[in-house]
Amino acid sequence: MPNSNIQLDDNGRLRHFLSIEGLDQAILTEILDTAGSFTSVADRTIKKVPILRGKTVANLFFEASTRTRSTFELAEQRLSADILSLNVDTSATVKGESLLDTLQNLEAMQIDMFVIRHQDSGSAHFFAQHVRPGVSVLNAGDGQHEHPTQAMLDMYTIRHYKRDFSGLRVAIVGDILHSRVARSQIHALNLLNTAEVRVIAPRTLMPVAVESLGVSIYDDLEKGLADVDVVIMLRLQRERMRGALLPSEKEYFRKFGLSQERLQRASPDAIVMHPGPANRGVEIESSVMDGKQSVILQQVSFGISVRMAVMSMIVGQSGLSSGPQPGGDA
Ligand code: NCD
Repeated sequence: MPNSNIQLDDNGRLRHFLSIEGLDQAILTEILDTAGSFTSVADRTIKKVPILRGKTVANLFFEASTRTRSTFELAEQRLSADILSLNVDTSATVKGESLLDTLQNLEAMQIDMFVIRHQDSGSAHFFAQHVRPGVSVLNAGDGQHEHPTQAMLDMYTIRHYKRDFSGLRVAIVGDILHSRVARSQIHALNLLNTAEVRVIAPRTLMPVAVESLGVSIYDDLEKGLADVDVVIMLRLQRERMRGALLPSEKEYFRKFGLSQERLQRASPDAIVMHPGPANRGVEIESSVMDGKQSVILQQVSFGISVRMAVMSMIVGQSGLSSGPQPGGDA
């Protein structure tokens, strides 16, 4: 993977947001704190601050997305950006234009920030290496590599409910092998000094040498859930699977599905998270998804503030206190 330090400028400030790997604890904490200052914007009658006024953001989604795309767009709107959302299904890329040509044509339209989701690992780094000085790239998910804003909204959610990472046991359950979300989460949890990060998956869905990322490995859900404070469930990413890695969905649920009964192995006040899209009855029982320990919809709401935070840090603003006063764009 290309050098992650391309993310920082000469003063160590965020220029691009491509991967959690390559960042440090101070930047992650600054994102969480900055996001905290933006949560109040959602409660105002006029949900806008002028931090990106006069800037143009292009959202390039080469893969399907519901939550990520809409919360990026809302975050941009609440920061008063001008927005261009490219429908890639109908764009020239399907006519054979290369990614670099697409980028250069968009740059000719004076875009200041690109948000990109692409099926190839490394595509966001590729973009960042080719944009003009002063233009920024945010990774909204690249292949099986990383999904850093998702990991940060997950960290925000965990901090919101659990306060301090240093005493926490966190379990990530499911298709770790194909999950860019899991990879970003593992890096973030470790940078924030989480006491223990467990990954729980069938052997066929566990990446080779995953322990080198600083996690403990379980192939038994019930053992892995014992006394954890946070349970993060992941979808089976069938579109990325080559060959038969799994028995039936029924069999998968029987062994790795999160049921009410199994959740009782976790700490009584454990929270249940899922980045979405979730498949009820496959990796998670419907009653757990809608149950009182689930914070899955809160994750979606926090996604807006966290994405506002990252974009505002990229333009040199750390939240509302140091930025232009709220309401300026009203
Ligand atoms: C994930 C993704 O696209 O990486 N979803 C998301 O962005 N919220 C996870 C998935 O597709 O399973």
